[in-house]
Amino acid sequence: MTKPKVFITRRLPDEVVDPYKEHLDIEMWPSEVEPVSRQVLMEHAQSSQGLLTMLTENVDEQMLRKSNNLSIIANMAVGYDNVDVKTAETLDIAVTHTPDVLTETTADLTFGLLMATARRVVEASQYIKDNKWEHWSPLMLAGTDIHGKTIGIVGMGRIGEAVAKRAKGFGMNILYYNRSRKPEAEESHGASYADFKGLLEQSDYVVCLTPLTDETHHMFNKEAFHSMKKDAFFINASRGATVDEEALYEAIINKDIAGAGLDVFEQEPISSDHPLLSCPEVVCLPHIGSATKETRYNMMKLSLDNLVHHFQGKPLLTPVP
Ligand code: NAP
Ligand code: GLV
Ligand code: GLV
Repeated sequence: MTKPKVFITRRLPDEVVDPYKEHLDIEMWPSEVEPVSRQVLMEHAQSSQGLLTMLTENVDEQMLRKSNNLSIIANMAVGYDNVDVKTAETLDIAVTHTPDVLTETTADLTFGLLMATARRVVEASQYIKDNKWEHWSPLMLAGTDIHGKTIGIVGMGRIGEAVAKRAKGFGMNILYYNRSRKPEAEESHGASYADFKGLLEQSDYVVCLTPLTDETHHMFNKEAFHSMKKDAFFINASRGATVDEEALYEAIINKDIAGAGLDVFEQEPISSDHPLLSCPEVVCLPHIGSATKETRYNMMKLSLDNLVHHFQGKPLLTPVP
């Protein structure tokens, strides 16, 4: 029997991929670092039956309509805003993602980013490395407390709940906002439901963990930042486009809010002259929420397992909802 042709859009470790060669005819983009060009991806999408994509690949309607052999896209991320899922559905192309395996890892980073922002950890490290540490003084690099404060989680899903668990351990008061209420999350984390505006007004730390959709696009705009407390922080570990970055920059320089921790940006990679990079009260990370070796290996394997299940006619492990 001929094996289905699968194209992987980034070089993944041989030790992960090799075992799957028994079931799949695998070709990989040779670079571990640089993304595949759109042109090359188009060609492979047309000749392959399956794709294993990264969040950097824009799998849009044009690409899908030209890919007559394609029957599955396994996206190696839990977010799938980079794939036109609606068109895929109409063309009967399955789409899978990687929920659960990255939840705790991403929550660790999100809470770590909150802590780094509040306690000025990155600035403080740079302070020493820049040879500025000449004295100790009572208010040198003084930050803001985390314990006893209110965290407002916008998007109380898998990762949001895992962040709530951490916040509870830190003695924080927890608010959350979703389109739907989650009584079991209220019960297990002691979280209280608030509407979006109420959450913004009451929280010391506003943490965004929604997916990027038409509804959440630029959800954090000028009005949202104006609703926040002047000494509150904004943390984003979802997708950059949930935020109007110009409005965030204005809010920071006008001191409408105290600072921000950002793992994601509207344009990634961010350009070196991006205004937010010039703000000392903003901590910027290059989209590393799920980036631990353990979790990235698990995400790779889950994506490959989905492909194998699909071609063996078994139920998909983690189809997008
Ligand atoms: P999830 O379990 O689906 O949770 C998403 C939550 O967002 C749900 O509770 C949902 O509740 C809420 N939501 C959806 N639309 C909303 C809206 N319009 N307004 C308010 N809340 C809304 O997803 P997850 O696994 O926690 O992942 C969440 C997102 O994190 C992913 O989509 C991805 O973009 C991002 N992520 C980033 C990284 C990183 O590296 N930084 C890593 C992993 C994931 P309702 O449906 O009730 O509204
Ligand atoms: C990462 O950002 C993901 O969605 O998995
Ligand atoms: C700080 O190091 C202290 O001892 O208070």
